[in-house]
Amino acid sequence: MTFDLTKIVRPKIYNLEPYRCARDDFKDGVLLDANENPHGPTQPGLEGSGLNRYPDPHQLAFKTAMANFRNGENHQYKDLPQPLTAENLCLGVGSDESIDAIIRACCVPAKEKILVLPPTYSMYSVCAHINDVEIVKCPLITSDNSFQANTDEVIKTAQNDPSIKLIFITSPGNPTGAKVETSRIEKILQNWDRGMVVVDEAYIDFCGGSTAPLVTKYPNLCVLQTLSKSFGLAGIRLGITFASKEMARVLNSMKAPYNISSLASEYALRAVQPDNLKVMKQLSLENKSQQHRLVKELTSLPNVHKEPIGGLDANFILLRIGNGDGDNDLAKKLYYKLATESGVVVRYRGSELGCTGCLRITVGTKEENDKLVKEFAKLLTQLTSN
Ligand SMILES: Cc1ncc(COP(=O)(O)O)c(C=O)c1O
Repeated sequence: MTFDLTKIVRPKIYNLEPYRCARDDFKDGVLLDANENPHGPTQPGLEGSGLNRYPDPHQLAFKTAMANFRNGENHQYKDLPQPLTAENLCLGVGSDESIDAIIRACCVPAKEKILVLPPTYSMYSVCAHINDVEIVKCPLITSDNSFQANTDEVIKTAQNDPSIKLIFITSPGNPTGAKVETSRIEKILQNWDRGMVVVDEAYIDFCGGSTAPLVTKYPNLCVLQTLSKSFGLAGIRLGITFASKEMARVLNSMKAPYNISSLASEYALRAVQPDNLKVMKQLSLENKSQQHRLVKELTSLPNVHKEPIGGLDANFILLRIGNGDGDNDLAKKLYYKLATESGVVVRYRGSELGCTGCLRITVGTKEENDKLVKEFAKLLTQLTSN
């Protein structure tokens, strides 16, 4: 395959001269270059915080630590040309910003398309609509409850439609919780070079086996990760795109120069220090044991399917409520009563492909799960006994 990024990225974006500030060249001294407030923040308590200054536009220390972390975890890919470096990364305001940026970089509005594999994360479609980009669907395999990518169908669909520029694969899936086998992702990467394959790994630390190191081997791969899930930092809004150095350069030149705030930068850097990475891994493991407990206790209830739907590779479970193929009406009522009568909020997913009657439940703390199980059982009995 001969991959040519200049044919994938819109020319004006590929050739974009990024915004440059004087601070790119000079960081110290009397700083009169950026029209900041020299007196500092106006509210008391923030003196000396430095928050009157624009943040660092590059986050090199965080990117380097994150690249090293993913390199260090990689025990499975032996023949990679190079390890990841900071130059393979671009940071966004959550992966939601990264999704939008990749669509804008590659798809000409009203002309080009993205391919998604439903049931999947809905932001790909939202961002596509915002950018006037059409959506083609190639469903995951639902018949065997594997929720794997239908590899041959994905390749055929993408090969037959030259206007498709991006394939979004969520692994582990949302709402399916199933990690897409790496061999399937590699097969798609090896058989389609007219665009980028974007693997969204928001939940990867709950199962391991990131494909991020593969961006040094496949120039048509972008991998999205986030600090919102396993790192417990949804509030700082920090998403990471791993890509070839060439693609990462494009994404970095497109982004607003100060998209990552000083506070987000600081917390992100702390999160990738060795001790905190250990805590992240430990908590992800603990999440597994609570996840298994929830599956066991909730699937033993009458009117709940005995097997969860999809996989257990993320930090949630997907349960089918009702007999037979699932009952959307019952699932919706249970969802509503849980929120309004018990104060427990889960997510109704019954309208997603292959998910009739499904509720998606995030694994909480032990105490939160205790409450969920008790209220879930009580309300389900009430709803099915009259
Ligand atoms: C698959 C997937 N990707 C991305 C995101 C959004 O992540 P962020 O908080 O980094 O925008 C989510 C959030 O639920 C998700 O489920």
